[in-house]
Amino acid sequence: MNCSQLVTLAGPARPRIGAEMRELGIVPGGAMLVRSGLIAAVGPRSEVEPLASSDAEVVDAGGRVVTPGFVDAHTHLIFGGNRANEFEMRCEGMTYQQISEQGGGIRATVRSTRAASEAELVAIGRKHTGWFLRGGTTTVEAKSGYGLATEEELKILRAIRAAGEETPLRCVATFLGAHEVPEEYRGNTGGYVDLLVNEMLPQVAGQKLAQYCDIFCEPKTFPVGEARLILAAAKALGLGLRCHADQFTCSGAAQLAAELGAKTADHLEQSDAASITALKAAGAQPVLLPGSVYAIGSQRYAPARAMIEAGLGVVIATDFNPGSSPTASMAMVMSLACTQMKMTPAEALTAATINAACSLDLQHEIGSLEAGKVADFVVHEASDYREIPYWFGGQRPKMVFTGGTRLPV
Ligand code: NIG
Ligand code: FE
Repeated sequence: MNCSQLVTLAGPARPRIGAEMRELGIVPGGAMLVRSGLIAAVGPRSEVEPLASSDAEVVDAGGRVVTPGFVDAHTHLIFGGNRANEFEMRCEGMTYQQISEQGGGIRATVRSTRAASEAELVAIGRKHTGWFLRGGTTTVEAKSGYGLATEEELKILRAIRAAGEETPLRCVATFLGAHEVPEEYRGNTGGYVDLLVNEMLPQVAGQKLAQYCDIFCEPKTFPVGEARLILAAAKALGLGLRCHADQFTCSGAAQLAAELGAKTADHLEQSDAASITALKAAGAQPVLLPGSVYAIGSQRYAPARAMIEAGLGVVIATDFNPGSSPTASMAMVMSLACTQMKMTPAEALTAATINAACSLDLQHEIGSLEAGKVADFVVHEASDYREIPYWFGGQRPKMVFTGGTRLPV
């Protein structure tokens, strides 16, 4: 109780599009009743307070803004090492792609991730989950993709499962074995595609270690033809599809995602009007990652306004990873979405909560503050929701709750 604004995001359990993205369902001075980890009632204080039993614990928000926990629908949660050395190289003028072509980039993180034991990866996962939770993120999608060999990928997926089980952060796992062609298959992409299709994917699906399959679809890595084979195999095994598409080249990756019924197409910095039309027709959601544009020093952000105008259920996410986007802060991503992609604070908040939940098929459980949903919510250090992206680069929430329990953050 005692919220300046209870930002509910109440509404239909589907992606919010167009003008709906600005409708936040704000209850001024609102209150919320939580029972057994679930939201029992939401509304004006005068209506909710009488429903509470006399021994109910009262949380005083102190006149602050309360929102649903952030849902970060694109992260590379677990990896060994970091790439601060490459950050310095980019500051000195090299591009992300040049560093990658010289054996750095994803392949550098593959070397350090392979060198880490499963227990070490679990410890790294625990550290990173703390960063997300302290920033107000209560659910993440988490990709493998720094193993690029069967046992190595399974090791990362098991570490992701451990992160979800051992910490209050809900983790949805995605298999990204097609993140890069590993060193031992250099010049033999076809051989690696065979391994993905015939060995890795069946094991991942058989052991139920991932709910989605993703791929880095780029002409120099996995071109559309190869990507189609991998994604089609994943789909046949019952995995949902996501796709790193049009990050550096507009090469038909978003159209491929649409063609195969992918849940999301992610990045889309280079997407053209035809890509947007295809995603709309297929009902796929764009996941925009402005942190990765900012951190590689590019100026070219995804055309968010055109996507909102076209009626796409836009999502924003951190793309947390050691190369192109070393941030776990959804508030920072909201800020970039507003200043660089000209989304309004309300659109950015919708993209960071309910629309993101829809992209993970979790729209019935999380993403808004409505009766029956899980009580994952954040008390922000703000009295107006627009302050969330306005104060950028370090503001932390006052309190974070998952399943009705306050985290020690
Ligand atoms: O989403 N470009 C593909 N994957 C990541 C980067 C991963 C990395 O650089 O380690 C991305 O930007
Ligand atoms: Fe990514």
